[in-house]
Amino acid sequence: MSDRLFIFDTTLRDGEQVPGCQLNTVEKIQVAKQLELLGVDVIEAGFPISSPGDFNSVIEISKAVTWPTICALTRAVQKDIDVAADALKFAKHKRIHTGIGTSDEHIKYKFNSNREEIIERAVAAVKYARKYVDDVEFYAEDAGRTDNEYLARVIEAVIKAGATVVNIPDTTGYCLPSEYGEKIKYLMEHVDGIHNAIISTHCHNDLGMATANTMSGVLNGARQVEVTINGIGERAGNTSLEEVAMILKCHKGIGIETNINTQKIYPTSRMVSSLMNMPVQPNKAIVGRNAFAHSSGIHQDGVLKNVQTYEIIDPHDVGIDDNSIVLTARSGRAALKNRLQVLGVNLDQEKLDKVYENFLKLADKKKDINDDDILVLAGADRTQNHRIKLDYLQVTSGVGVHSVASLGLNIAGEKFEECASGNGPVDAAIKALKKIINRQMTLKEFTIQAISKGSDDMGKVHMQVEYDNHVYYGFGANTDIIAASVEAYIDCINKFKD
Ligand code: KIV
Ligand code: ZN
Repeated sequence: MSDRLFIFDTTLRDGEQVPGCQLNTVEKIQVAKQLELLGVDVIEAGFPISSPGDFNSVIEISKAVTWPTICALTRAVQKDIDVAADALKFAKHKRIHTGIGTSDEHIKYKFNSNREEIIERAVAAVKYARKYVDDVEFYAEDAGRTDNEYLARVIEAVIKAGATVVNIPDTTGYCLPSEYGEKIKYLMEHVDGIHNAIISTHCHNDLGMATANTMSGVLNGARQVEVTINGIGERAGNTSLEEVAMILKCHKGIGIETNINTQKIYPTSRMVSSLMNMPVQPNKAIVGRNAFAHSSGIHQDGVLKNVQTYEIIDPHDVGIDDNSIVLTARSGRAALKNRLQVLGVNLDQEKLDKVYENFLKLADKKKDINDDDILVLAGADRTQNHRIKLDYLQVTSGVGVHSVASLGLNIAGEKFEECASGNGPVDAAIKALKKIINRQMTLKEFTIQAISKGSDDMGKVHMQVEYDNHVYYGFGANTDIIAASVEAYIDCINKFKD
């Protein structure tokens, strides 16, 4: 069996399905180019029939990257496949990913169908997709809860119909690692023609077992893994690319290699987190802020004597460099450009000038500018075309007094101002904002996150606002957390559909 494991990245499809994490096409291209540098084999670029935005992103990503195969998702429906094939027309290497639910729950409740009919639909979809492309991947949705005997029949039939890759998703994140590994082994042993296709894992993390299940699949014969950067994805997320790549690098004895340039892992993680406004939990394996921080006295003592006492990964191997906090008000444009390039962001001169201008303003308020700050600044022009912008904000607050805020908005070029009092500065500012934007909206969630340390640090605010039965996600970043909160609220309002 081959000792090469193919990395199929679905950050831009399954990862991007997370509410509030949607990227525009330009941002998706930026991520796709970074994934190419990282060395992934396949980029799942979207689900073209689902929206014009997804269709367009698959087209533009196909044009922008060269080496990875570009993959487009479909249901087992002819129209989906037609649209996917059209979206892939510029891809140098292309794959259609089609499939259908195979568990009894899906067959009965989703399709109101039966097992034989599902096999027929699966085979028809694969044959239809093969008319357009040579590389067709079939997914058996909810394979984790599909009984092995029936799953083997489905997989055998689709391989005969021309599937080159067969994806065995644990869609609900239900399987135990032993169970998932057994499933892959069963298919390896019972499917006629299994060696004509590659088995792929696609594990969700609902019970925190996605990486363990993926590894179990690999140890039992899977040779493609479907993963996302930082493990992002619906609900509890997907398997993390960085975890699988580093497990195989650390455990050389397994004898399986990937094409991942591990030194690009950290910059890619930062880029995805920043563009998607999706913080990485501090204790996240490989890429979390604390992943290499030794805080207990015993550990620090050991690491100072010899780093191998407590560290199994050299942080440099995943692209963490110790010089990351070096930019200050005295840093020039070239230093900023260089740091952005290290972080995977390439800006044209005009954008760089704008980011540098904002960088100097921030450096006036904050002594050290770290990588997170820079990424926030590089993404800041995302609000430039917004209809509603914050003009000014003044707040007085203190202990034993009511907070008062006065606030000015620029709405499509017209100026508005209001003031209000509240039981705290954020409450006062949002009440003033609501006097200008007079709609029935409710704040559902509000998270403030300091990016690193220090009272001069930039705060990031994530918000969810409900309006007209929809929940909208917003983000703001500012050294003033009241301003960041108002910016996040305005970001939500700018996304309202009317
Ligand atoms: O989790 C899943 O089953 C999926 C399929 C659409 C591949 O994402
Ligand atoms: Zn999935």
